[in-house]
Amino acid sequence: MADQKRLALVTGANGGIGFEVVNQLLADGSFHVLLGSRSIEKGEAALADLQSRKLPGTVELVQLDVTDEKSVAAAAKLVEEKHGRLDALVNNAGIARGPGTRAEQMVDCFRVSAVGAQLMSDYFSPLLKKSTGTPRIINVTSGAGSIGNHIARKNFGLKDQVIPYRVCKAAMNMVFACQVRSYEEEGFKIFLYGPGPTVSNLSPPDFFPGKKPTAVGAAPITEMVQGKKDDDAGKYLEYGYEGVFPW
Ligand SMILES: NC(=O)c1ccc[n+]([C@@H]2O[C@H](COP(=O)([O-])OP(=O)(O)OC[C@H]3O[C@@H](n4cnc5c(N)ncnc54)[C@H](OP(=O)(O)O)[C@@H]3O)[C@@H](O)[C@H]2O)c1
Repeated sequence: MADQKRLALVTGANGGIGFEVVNQLLADGSFHVLLGSRSIEKGEAALADLQSRKLPGTVELVQLDVTDEKSVAAAAKLVEEKHGRLDALVNNAGIARGPGTRAEQMVDCFRVSAVGAQLMSDYFSPLLKKSTGTPRIINVTSGAGSIGNHIARKNFGLKDQVIPYRVCKAAMNMVFACQVRSYEEEGFKIFLYGPGPTVSNLSPPDFFPGKKPTAVGAAPITEMVQGKKDDDAGKYLEYGYEGVFPW
């Protein structure tokens, strides 16, 4: 029964790292997972794939474009009416770089990672406050957003085409800091995690040789949702290559 399980919502979960987080949470068995997808078609395909695996958890599709305030508001209303609360929010949706001019790419990236994470916090924090356990927000950022690393030339060898992505993830990191100030004292555990180069649909397969398997990049997010990494709340983290990133 969904109402006896912990409730986790993952944005951008029709593929890549988000899909794998949902898969891992369903394998845990104690979660009802809301699989966020901006495309209903892709979301239904992901849902069918996961349901065919006969995992012990339960899952439902929530249509959600994190850049569209009406879509975020409608999703929050649906979750409120159906479940009355939320226990964990994973702000996973992201794009590396849209088509178009530099200006368009900058705005597109910013809208997904920064505007999206802020809108999700605004609309879902009232539901997280009704959590029956510890409310959790996990923001999936990137080490590419570390200003300290970039100034120190620890830049993963990434070139100028990654500037929109760097800037939007640095902005997402400030959204995280604002979440901490707004909700920490209300008992929320709030995380900022960059998976490091990980196999997904974000970049071409040959973009960064030696990427982590998707399940490895996703596992810390799953553990944050499960409450296994609470000591790491409030930090800018990766696991594997870096540890704690400089801001
Ligand atoms: N893979 C890496 O090496 C790596 C490294 C560091 C950080 N990250 C971060 O990890 C997160 C997951 O990315 P990924 O690597 O798994 O890439 P991915 O396979 O491309 O998945 C990204 C997901 O975000 C969704 N999305 C994009 N724009 C959206 C919007 N406006 N509203 C809702 N969903 C939206 C995509 O939906 P569509 O299928 O419709 O496009 C897709 O489901 C991102 O935040 C990314 O920046 C990844």
